[in-house]
Amino acid sequence: MKRIGILTSGGDCPGLNAVLRGVTRAAAALGWTTIGFRDGFEGMLPPADWVELNRRTTAGIMSLGGTILGTTNKGHFVAKVGAGEKAVLAPEIIARARETMEHLQLDGLICVGGDGSLTTALQLFEAGFPVIGVPKTIDNDLEATDSSFGFDSAVAAVADALDRLHTTATSHKRAMVLEVMGRHAGWIALYGGLAGGGDIILIPEIPFDFERVADAVRHRDAEGCLSTMIVVAEGACPRDGHQLSHFTGSGEFKLGGMGEVVAREVIRRTGKEARTCVLGHLQRGGPPTTLDRILGTRFGVKAVELIKHGKFGTMVSYRNSSVSEVPIADAVHRLRLVRADDEMVVAAREVGISFGD
Ligand code: F6P
Repeated sequence: MKRIGILTSGGDCPGLNAVLRGVTRAAAALGWTTIGFRDGFEGMLPPADWVELNRRTTAGIMSLGGTILGTTNKGHFVAKVGAGEKAVLAPEIIARARETMEHLQLDGLICVGGDGSLTTALQLFEAGFPVIGVPKTIDNDLEATDSSFGFDSAVAAVADALDRLHTTATSHKRAMVLEVMGRHAGWIALYGGLAGGGDIILIPEIPFDFERVADAVRHRDAEGCLSTMIVVAEGACPRDGHQLSHFTGSGEFKLGGMGEVVAREVIRRTGKEARTCVLGHLQRGGPPTTLDRILGTRFGVKAVELIKHGKFGTMVSYRNSSVSEVPIADAVHRLRLVRADDEMVVAAREVGISFGD
């Protein structure tokens, strides 16, 4: 009989509830008890905020977006302060979390999160906690796993948005710019743009030239195409410029704003009417796709198996259609970015998509 804890940390992501359900059921099958901490690592701070997860409390959650446990990318456990910058957890915070682990007599702790949360998880493991990581990111930017749940749902949202924008853009003979998420990685823009029939895709990994973007719009006009669909990753960057970002009301740095700049430049350089749509959190909310439900469930089941075999310090990983494990340390040192020669980039170019380069 074991008692295990689980928490969801960082930005929410479709498929998190499938993981919680998968973990709970796989653990129950072994006769184990599962405890879910509320609001990420924060729930571990004494007196601890948790709920028992069982078949009843996880019933019917598979199709729900978000996380029934709540999450946060702020608080006492934040271990990443910016791109590539690592913060060290305060010893007293680690001590308080340890107190909770001991008080609840937990034999394992499953941390579901992206690179920031897994950096925290790694520090807890190094401090002696029996930690297992589960990768979570709509951005698909984690090293050491080919994919994570949430990405497919985000891509589906982008494709759906492009389908909708296409009919209005064509009716008005406009260029339509769709700005999408992804932070420093262009995966969502690339896959979503391809699936939704985008004509121009601008991603952080391939710096673009405004004049090349205008050329592609003019070229389509000359061919008699009524509209041009332009997908701009929030981290896209012009060759001779820089990424755009803004500070939120809560003092954070967030990428975004390039979509509007691209639309303005298209109007100025081609005379074509253009509009911008920022898809934002619609990419993160709502029900997970079937693929993400299945991936989330498989990740949850694997996490329990890793605890069973005492493989602490590892993270569930998806490689070549198979779920295995890797050291958490392999996943958090750098971001997985789109390579300019990636098969998807090559395929996109083959079907006439411009990257503005
Ligand atoms: O990492 C996931 C993500 O959705 C990014 O694509 C985006 O830049 C960021 O989180 C938005 O964060 P928040 O929900 O804090 O605004």
